[in-house]
Amino acid sequence: MAKKIVVENGEWTKPENQYKYCEELENGNLLFFAAPPFPFPQEEIDFLLQQKQGGSKARKNIAYKPQIDQITNHDTKDPASAAKLKEILSHYSKRVTAFLSVLLSPYAKDWKHDYASFRPFQEKGRNLRLRARNDLLHVDAFPTRPLHGSRILRFFTNINPKETRVWNTSDDFATLAKQFFGKVPIPSSPGYDLLSRALRKAKQLVHKAGIKIALRSPYDHFMLQMHNFLKENREFQEKCHKDRWEFPPLSCWAVFTDQVSHAALSGQYALEQTFIVPQKALLCPDKSPVCVLERLSGRNLVDPEYLQAMVKKV
Ligand SMILES: [Fe+2]
Repeated sequence: MAKKIVVENGEWTKPENQYKYCEELENGNLLFFAAPPFPFPQEEIDFLLQQKQGGSKARKNIAYKPQIDQITNHDTKDPASAAKLKEILSHYSKRVTAFLSVLLSPYAKDWKHDYASFRPFQEKGRNLRLRARNDLLHVDAFPTRPLHGSRILRFFTNINPKETRVWNTSDDFATLAKQFFGKVPIPSSPGYDLLSRALRKAKQLVHKAGIKIALRSPYDHFMLQMHNFLKENREFQEKCHKDRWEFPPLSCWAVFTDQVSHAALSGQYALEQTFIVPQKALLCPDKSPVCVLERLSGRNLVDPEYLQAMVKKV
């Protein structure tokens, strides 16, 4: 079960702590900060609290994509408000990155910036289809951005001035993978015969031509299945051991969400920044979900050709 590691002010600047927080994260623990460990102007928070995402059918979070400096899913008709929102999310993304580059310095040279998100909805009673529900325990997996064994690291901030954000967590990936071994199909290793390689090459070409096709490894296929299996497993959701977490207003927390099973039960107005941490940056890759799964199954679950193509693209 995940432990709460409280990060005290300034602790991250001590040289003896250079590896401490990465190690805690890789052990499946959660780093907690009582207040944002970087400047966060009240005026920016006030603006975010005024944002309402009415009308959107899927009730999607607002995403900020740092690589292209754009926001998506913002349904305002007011360009000035959209520009302001983008600016604030961009500031948040930069501040989190600058801070984590010190706190988690062993990762910083290799990680890839993924999206930041603003979550303006009340999580309690949110009307989403089952597989999209946040209040059911799950491990994260990305359907459109394959990871090939890289990790999903997320930093959250509860900007709600009054309401605590409440999570449940349960067992970590290694425990769940063992518990449900055989229940979630483990894909075959990538094939290296002529036909398999030709098919892979063809998919890459289609992808390169701009057609939306995810170049998934067997690991990515498994993680998507595992995500769905956990959410759809009523017995697991009802009977598994749970720890309840309360994140008070303005607190922040960081966690590997592909490892720690989690559910957001209630709370409104949170910010989040995601980082993709590759295997080579980890202190202990053996503890990562892909290694756990490869050991359990005796199969290679990462496709080196796709991985190569992905690295070149980044
Ligand atoms: Fe999640």
